[in-house]
Amino acid sequence: MAPAKILKVSIVFGSVVLFLMSGTSFALQDGVARTPPMGWNSWNYFACNLITEDVVLMTAQAFVKKHPANWEGKQISMLDVGYKYVCIDDCWGKGTRTALGQLQINTIKFPHSIDNTFNWLSDSLHNMGLKFGIYTSNGTSTCQQTQPGSCSHEESDAAQFALWGVDFIKNDCCFSEGCNGGTPNQQLYVKMRDAVKKTGRPMVLSLCEYGKSSPWLWGDTVGHMWRTNYDITADWGSVLGRVDENTSRQLYRYAHPGAWNDPDMLEVGNGSLTLAENQSHFDLWCMQASPLLKGNDLSRMTEEVFTILSNREVIAVDQDSLGVQGRRVRQIGTTIDIYVKKMKSADTLLNRKFAVVLLNRTTGSLSGSVKWADFGELNPKAKYVVRDLWKHTNLDTAATDSVRATMAGHGTVHLLLTRVPPPVSALEIPVSINALSAQLESRTSALGIEIYIPASNSKVQIFNAQGEMIASFSTSHPSWYPVSDKLSLYGIYIVCVKTSSGFLAKELLLAR
Ligand code: GLA
Repeated sequence: MAPAKILKVSIVFGSVVLFLMSGTSFALQDGVARTPPMGWNSWNYFACNLITEDVVLMTAQAFVKKHPANWEGKQISMLDVGYKYVCIDDCWGKGTRTALGQLQINTIKFPHSIDNTFNWLSDSLHNMGLKFGIYTSNGTSTCQQTQPGSCSHEESDAAQFALWGVDFIKNDCCFSEGCNGGTPNQQLYVKMRDAVKKTGRPMVLSLCEYGKSSPWLWGDTVGHMWRTNYDITADWGSVLGRVDENTSRQLYRYAHPGAWNDPDMLEVGNGSLTLAENQSHFDLWCMQASPLLKGNDLSRMTEEVFTILSNREVIAVDQDSLGVQGRRVRQIGTTIDIYVKKMKSADTLLNRKFAVVLLNRTTGSLSGSVKWADFGELNPKAKYVVRDLWKHTNLDTAATDSVRATMAGHGTVHLLLTRVPPPVSALEIPVSINALSAQLESRTSALGIEIYIPASNSKVQIFNAQGEMIASFSTSHPSWYPVSDKLSLYGIYIVCVKTSSGFLAKELLLAR
């Protein structure tokens, strides 16, 4: 890891009042994909042979089509709930470049591209309020070998895409071993990143490298999202497999605004997935702050599938501006998984918001009680307002320490927990404690990262953005204390200090 530096957060926190900061980023810093991109990609359903201009237009119409009134009594469209990117995958081009090295569009599939541009199509999408995505590979050919890859043509391809009004590039890695004597994928992706930057057009860069060279370790400086695994298929084993891979590699540590783990396009509405499995698939993707690229035929989707894909309350979990990826905090035997995602809360440290998904891994339905204590990150003694994001109601559990849940086979329950704040008024915070909080600072010196603890005889606890305590130590006198050995990853940290006269807290942003 590159040497870390601490940026100071200027907000002063009182004895119990802590404002959480959002939008932290160490990614490309280009303002693109600050929340996981939402849209559609042609591959999962239309694959190579079926993708045509008509399919893209039909899909775009489906994006803006209003559906019958939902639970809020509103007629909404896919666009209304945030889906924007309409992305063509492999097989849009001809087999060769022009004499001048330009990619060529297959005009049998895309008849309005007779001028060898996608401008007619991208204008049509843009006029509907949508965005246009395209596909290439960093190797000598795309995966289906129907068109050349961008190897050694990064600048001219990126320029061509920018002229075509492209907003999203999926960059695969097929046949990269044949590119310039086997240039490593990471370097090829850097070339495309630089080429895109040169165009000056904001475009989402989606790295499709299947997790082969751990893109989560470097992807945030090269793209906005990176595939974590090989291709998904439309069956439960494949869906759950992608989630389990994410869990076992602890990939939640690498996601943040502008940089997302991508377990692949959604299969909701495809293949052999049952209704419960479709809902669970969607819940788990949202829990993981995954890009939400639908992969079904939107023009023939059932209303049940639309209801899943358009659930605003669940989408809000995915799109939460804090940008923290949820993670599995507990397994009850081998039957129930509990996932928790910390959400942005406009209020205080003590009024935190969490999304929780309970997943039934078995084929039979299950019901029972789950205690807050089982949720790992939640305070077992605190009271929470609990909202069921599929029933769209608040459960009457604020007075208890648990929730009762019933899940179909392979089904989920998705809850939003908002802590009921204790009756502490900001006015009760002693002025002297406020002044001390202001002095709680961090810096990078020859000794690495240091934190200034302003009070005597203090107990210091440092939490990461997931709410895990990652360091705890005592100090005897006000001084700078080195913490580099304790903070191994960049991210948001919350430093809490207990003194004889009260409690200080401050959020610190640790950047690379
Ligand atoms: C790879 C990718 C898929 C799709 C195909 C197209 O397999 O992982 O998502 O883009 O290529 O050929």
